[in-house]
Amino acid sequence: MELKIKGNRTLTGEIKISGSKNSALALIPIALLSDGVVTIDNVPEVSDIFVLKEILEYLGAKVSFDNNVMVIDNANLVNKEIPEELSHKMRASYYFMPVLLSRFNKVEMFFPGGCSIGARPIDQTLKALTALGGVVDEKDNHYAITTEGLVGGHVYLDMPSVGATVNTIIAAVKAKGTTILENAAKEPEIVNVATFLNSMGAKITGAGTSEIRIRGVKKLNGCYTEVIPDRIEAGTYVIAAAMVGENLKISNIIPEHIEALLLKMQEMGIDFELNDNSVLITAPKHKLKPVKIKTLGYPGFATDLQQPVTPLLTRCSGVSKLEETIYENRFNNVPYLNEMGANIEIKGRELKISGPTEFKGKTVEATDLRAGASLLIAALAADGNTTIKNVNHILRGYDNLVEKLRAVGADIELV
Ligand code: EPZ
Repeated sequence: MELKIKGNRTLTGEIKISGSKNSALALIPIALLSDGVVTIDNVPEVSDIFVLKEILEYLGAKVSFDNNVMVIDNANLVNKEIPEELSHKMRASYYFMPVLLSRFNKVEMFFPGGCSIGARPIDQTLKALTALGGVVDEKDNHYAITTEGLVGGHVYLDMPSVGATVNTIIAAVKAKGTTILENAAKEPEIVNVATFLNSMGAKITGAGTSEIRIRGVKKLNGCYTEVIPDRIEAGTYVIAAAMVGENLKISNIIPEHIEALLLKMQEMGIDFELNDNSVLITAPKHKLKPVKIKTLGYPGFATDLQQPVTPLLTRCSGVSKLEETIYENRFNNVPYLNEMGANIEIKGRELKISGPTEFKGKTVEATDLRAGASLLIAALAADGNTTIKNVNHILRGYDNLVEKLRAVGADIELV
């Protein structure tokens, strides 16, 4: 599939942000830990979620998904190995590792997939599962983990990994005794996971800080929960608004979750009106000041907004710098942005962006999800027509993308 975009259109009106893909990708597997039926509201309709639904059904769960509400009944859950092809479709497939281990005391699983943006090892998850009483047998890309019953333990993560934090919480929640997790990730998605589990009856404190304590419980009841707004989708549209918006309102957001981005935009000289759950932006006509950005774990500048923000930095007069500290290889958008007219040099893990430059429409390719979002933003601001190939990468993470952009005046078509 391809996206065809006629650029240089002014976008005006309102874009409502959907539920967080990355939160939903954790909450849905976690629902299998419950001893009752779980209802999750505000689930985005993105392709990754449909793959998860397929995995749940493969494991024997009954799942309905209508109007962004997913209802999961796991009464007939079975312990089966998820086919390699399904595991490979996304990173989040490895959340089933601690879920099935906790439920059945054994699990067999292939290495997870996900965007090709670096090595993305899972050593911290394996370390945590071992600390909680799991025995890992690893052969090539296949893992067999068994336990005589998970027990609480003391886990220190070498880096504040989002996935390893979620996996440790999952393994600890029904383990015997207390788990202390140090150097935990502080992302809002972790808080969403803990709130969800606590509403099922778990005993988790400290989520959102670097030390999380989990007191194991025997039972988890069914519950209703809501997915938080997607801060990366929000950030992506905020950036688009700063380039081509006129009174464009990005609503249903938690402004605090995109504070690092908003503060950098202020530093560049971009004005916006911030309200309780929305932000109103008009693309400035004046010169923008160059900035330095470094990606970090939350509340630092999100790595997932590093590629989307790059086109905006081409608007600054002078040299901006953008350092990627989380992934080794997250610059696949750059050669295409340069073909479209940007002047960006890659120096190791840093980009040097010289501006201002203008974008011209071209045929380009989305190599991964956020690279695709980056090219889309450039295309919206470009003179002429852009075709983005391999658009399935973008559709993994942006709910109703074409409809949302068309409603505010973009000329965009999915072919
Ligand atoms: C989550 O990935 C997100 N994915 C990513 O979003 C996001 O980029 C990332 O967090 C960072 O915010 C989901 O939530 C499904 P990490 P995750 O474990 O959990 C290294 C997007 O665009 N590491 O925090 O896989 C790792 O290689 C995606 O929506 C280890 O070395 O990220 C990376 O350099 C892409 N060993 C860093 O830590 C481990 O065991 C952070 O990874 C785990 C991680």
